[in-house]
Amino acid sequence: MARRVADLAVDVRDFPQPGIVFKDLTPLFASGPDFAATIDAIVEHYGADSFDVVAGIEARGFMIASAVAYAAGVGVVPVRKVGKLPRKTLRETYALEYGEATLELHTDSFTPGQRVLVVDDVLATGGTAEASLSLVEQAGGVVTGFTVLLELAFLEGRKRLKPRTVHALLTV
Ligand code: PRP
Ligand code: MG
Repeated sequence: MARRVADLAVDVRDFPQPGIVFKDLTPLFASGPDFAATIDAIVEHYGADSFDVVAGIEARGFMIASAVAYAAGVGVVPVRKVGKLPRKTLRETYALEYGEATLELHTDSFTPGQRVLVVDDVLATGGTAEASLSLVEQAGGVVTGFTVLLELAFLEGRKRLKPRTVHALLTV
């Protein structure tokens, strides 16, 4: 699967701003067999019985999280950008590789001790993941894993997440 992610990811230079090389995974999502194999690989890695619910990180994480949840027969919970969730939320602000962002999670997203698999597309600096995992724990969830399709190792995001269970289909 790592090979397919590598083959289908497209480097877009200077997007969304000069100096950033954007990793565009939309060709992978658009390919039925590759998308299915991606989701199957994630579920197989953790085992469908190892988590009770999936948390997806807006926006690109939603595409993967929903499919993983469906494949595993569990529900999906959104970690959203600020101002989108209608009820009482927890909030975390963090620095992005480009800019700053705030994520929110409904306070009652999980039952206490519920095992949560957190899903996103890319691990870069780790700010998004760190904030999301913190929100899940503040909401009473137990993080069983954090999974991405692509990890940019040179940005050392994984270091911010130790000792979590981080899984990447491809690390570059
Ligand atoms: C991108 C990507 C990850 C995050 C990784 O999301 O989808 O969520 O950045 O970066 P980090 O490890 O440095 O935090 P982005 O915030 O650009 O928004 P999007 O998913 O809504 O497109
Ligand atoms: Mg994102």
